[in-house]
Amino acid sequence: MSEKKVKSIQDLPGVGAATSEKLRNTGYATIMSIAVASSGELVEATGMGESVSRKAINAARDSLEMGFETGDQLLKKRKDVQKISTGSKSFDKLLGGGVESGAITECYGEFGSGKTQMAHILAVNLQKQYPGCEVVYIDTEHTFRPERIVDLAKGVKLDPNKVLKNIKVARAFNSDHQMLLAEKAQELIINGANIRLVIVDSLTGHFRAEFVGRGQLAERQQKLNRHMRTLLNMSGNYNVCVYVTNQVLSRPDMFFGDPTKAIGGHIVAHASTFRIYLRKGKKGSRVGKLVDSPNLPEGECSFMIVQKGLADL
Ligand code: GTP
Ligand code: MG
Repeated sequence: MSEKKVKSIQDLPGVGAATSEKLRNTGYATIMSIAVASSGELVEATGMGESVSRKAINAARDSLEMGFETGDQLLKKRKDVQKISTGSKSFDKLLGGGVESGAITECYGEFGSGKTQMAHILAVNLQKQYPGCEVVYIDTEHTFRPERIVDLAKGVKLDPNKVLKNIKVARAFNSDHQMLLAEKAQELIINGANIRLVIVDSLTGHFRAEFVGRGQLAERQQKLNRHMRTLLNMSGNYNVCVYVTNQVLSRPDMFFGDPTKAIGGHIVAHASTFRIYLRKGKKGSRVGKLVDSPNLPEGECSFMIVQKGLADL
């Protein structure tokens, strides 16, 4: 077997252009997806021979170094973690420095609480702190505003045009499209794009609209689970910061329902590494609460949304 570095599925032994196309089309777009597939699955998906598929799987596994790591190796890896500032000192402190790479940060809260604002701010601040890095913005609610990016970029003294050029925006038309876009983002990274932040705003909007009623809940959760897996793998495998927004259960036309509970239930809650609950505070302020984190205490902070970004009170 060739010793050349396996970077994409086409580098796998026995996988040429046609087969790799078939693999991609049937959902085996990444080395990881092949490494965890059974040879029967690949045979069925592509019509490749049994022994070829086994070789491809083995090569994929070898290239991923799926072994164990020691605690000190992991501590060293933690030093590669990038933290994107929110622009507010108190919010950054609450988050242990900022929104982390290698993790999913979920931000949930009622309408107008600032979830989308935060997405815009992170897209700009990433570029302030790590020049040359790119952002993928999956917009499901048509609320991405380039004008807002211009304001925010000026606020941190960056050239707005350059900042906008480094944000790849895609509108997701439905939940399937949204899932596909997340996979595409991963593909771009695999192919060498310097994407360090992937935003999904909103994570649950399409799922909520398309799967109505109890009867469809299981199917919705299953799909959402698959989507979260894609995002989680992407964040972990490529040290990417994933920021997703989520709505809360209450609706303006409903008197019942806990306004502090997020959509998506356990699936989203468990897959998210950090969870932030945003709410409106007194006199137009906003309150951010860290609800879940693997290494930080729970806590709250207050700030204002202003033209330049976030401001401490
Ligand atoms: P939904 O998507 O509806 O669930 O809400 P969201 O949580 O995404 O809210 P979003 O981030 O869109 O916050 C909207 C709020 O941000 C507005 O109500 C404004 O108060 C504030 N905001 C947005 N742009 C500006 C701005 O340029 N200046 C100031 N001062 N505030 C702004
Ligand atoms: Mg929004």
